[in-house]
Amino acid sequence: MAVVVSANGNGPAFEAKMTVYVFVCVLIAAVGGLIFGYDIGISGGVTAMDDFLKKFFPTVWERKQHAHENNYCKYDNQHLQLFTSSLYLAALVASFLASAVCSKLGRKPTMQFASVFFLIGVGLAAGADNIVMLIIGRILLGFGVGFGNQAVPLFLSEIAPAQLRGGLNIVFQLMVTIGILIANLVNYFTATVHPNGWRIALGGAAIPAVILLLGSLIICETPTSLIERNKNEEGRETLRKIRGVEDINDEYESIVHACEIASQVKDPYRKLLKPASRPPLIIGMLLQLFQQFSGINAIMFYAPVLFQTVGFGNNAALLSAVITGSINVLSTFVGIYLVDRTGRRFLLLQSSVHMLISQLIIGIILAKDLGITGTLGKAQAMVVVVFVCAYVMGFAWSWGPLGWLIPSETFPLETRSAGFPVAVSCNMLFTFVIAQAFLSMLCGMRSGIFFFFSAWIIVMGLFALFFIPETKGVAIDDVRERVWKPHWFWKRYMLAEDDHQDVEKRTE
Ligand code: BGC
Repeated sequence: MAVVVSANGNGPAFEAKMTVYVFVCVLIAAVGGLIFGYDIGISGGVTAMDDFLKKFFPTVWERKQHAHENNYCKYDNQHLQLFTSSLYLAALVASFLASAVCSKLGRKPTMQFASVFFLIGVGLAAGADNIVMLIIGRILLGFGVGFGNQAVPLFLSEIAPAQLRGGLNIVFQLMVTIGILIANLVNYFTATVHPNGWRIALGGAAIPAVILLLGSLIICETPTSLIERNKNEEGRETLRKIRGVEDINDEYESIVHACEIASQVKDPYRKLLKPASRPPLIIGMLLQLFQQFSGINAIMFYAPVLFQTVGFGNNAALLSAVITGSINVLSTFVGIYLVDRTGRRFLLLQSSVHMLISQLIIGIILAKDLGITGTLGKAQAMVVVVFVCAYVMGFAWSWGPLGWLIPSETFPLETRSAGFPVAVSCNMLFTFVIAQAFLSMLCGMRSGIFFFFSAWIIVMGLFALFFIPETKGVAIDDVRERVWKPHWFWKRYMLAEDDHQDVEKRTE
């Protein structure tokens, strides 16, 4: 699959208008990010609803009734965690399949598949009568996420005029955060609807899924995908239509050229294993590990559960999740504004310190004041909420969007098609691990879990300091020369590659 970002990376100034049609296409495709966010946000609220627990997880419900006996363990149940995590495991498997569909059939059908998976998954989960139906529903939703997360970022970057590409990339993350917030709001309102509030909450994802399905009938296929599949004339016509100008020849030629280069690499996955691919590959994979082990999804998935743990009532806990969700959305705008001004490194380093302090304060308060039984005092509980917000803020303008942006801009063209799916799958893998393990870890480690996340934040801050170079303003195809070759550590892989090529030339 060729992921073509114009001939010189940041894009030569090809003539283009931001047409209404492109705008509509972007909106429709971005609904894919919204569904992903909705799924992330909805499970925490649903798993805190008594009607839901009584029906599917009666033992958890029983234990919750004796909550004061053990604050940290009331939700510890492998099956309950499987309800949340199964989606990500399915998405992990599906993203490889999706990557093949995306290149063989195109971005548009991949999104259509995603919306069909979403619709069936929502139907099964919201209509579930037993746990098997529920989990199968979650797995199908996971397939939707795998297909959507593969096709949507690609679609957005291929359809956007080159000058808007970076900003549009973060629109995906923005939609994810909006989806999480909507889910938090839905949770808040449906929690008071008995006995079927949880069905409404899970069923809510059907609305964006229908929008994506119907919308994907009117959007176009991307010119790159058409040209990649030898439909050059159709590709040229589509390009003319979406750019809104007559003279699209230069951009057309540049896409054809990029597709030719990409098609010469017979096996991009093999190329990905070569030393020269190591810097973006290692960074792309570790970014996902760090993103997840910073503890973000412990909060995004389980915020209501977490707030209940520290002593909030059901409603207050859901409302606090709405507050953290709003902070998440607003702070993403800060990221969009700063990323090309202060650069990536500044954001990563600043937020590591900021997130570390927040996690430590939360951990210290819980360790000091929340025993295994009893609840936090009002004042301490408020301080916990404030620092959860501070933590989410830091994540939302740095590791959140950059976890997706950096892998999309550091792979050279020849390996971009293999490298990006690897990064997406790693994200799903580590998201799965956190979703599956968090409640048990909370039970076993109690407040120590926040020190565990703090330790990871120190590691990722140091990694950013020493190993993540600045890529702000560097054209994609210059990354090798301008970023990796001069880098104190990564240059060793570049030199090895040069030597290797020299040897090859000499023996020819
Ligand atoms: C992460 C998700 C997370 C979200 C929070 C994304 O970048 O990949 O796992 O839930 O940010 O906004």
